[in-house]
Amino acid sequence: MNAAAAVRIIGAAQRRCAQTLGRPALLPVSSSAVQFCLQSTQPVPAARLPYRVKVSAGKRYAWCACGHSKKQPFCDGAHRTDAPSISPVRFTLDKDRTLMLCACKQTKNAPYCDGSHLKVIFQDIVKSVKGIFK
Ligand code: FES
Repeated sequence: MNAAAAVRIIGAAQRRCAQTLGRPALLPVSSSAVQFCLQSTQPVPAARLPYRVKVSAGKRYAWCACGHSKKQPFCDGAHRTDAPSISPVRFTLDKDRTLMLCACKQTKNAPYCDGSHLKVIFQDIVKSVKGIFK
């Protein structure tokens, strides 16, 4: 990456920080500060509906709690860079089962779906409707 590209990326990150924090980012900013700002402390929804998965007895699973994994609903280690304050939920079952695992990452009964995705879907609808009347 050349210097001009790096400056453009840092500038975009500063604008994103300003939008997120509601105040302008201070200049100059280090790349580690930009990296910190881009990391999320709240989980992001991976999908709006739960994942139906077959799990095997005795096998260890790690359910992605941050929403950044590319191997949903399971952890691929993306939380280490994208959301270091969030850890996966590890579980093992004693029987083979088919489970509904949370995808919206808002469940109160991790890793299982508790219906919280309905609230996420409702919030999406409210945002969309507000966007129409802007
Ligand atoms: S990638 Fe989301 S918890 Fe590990």
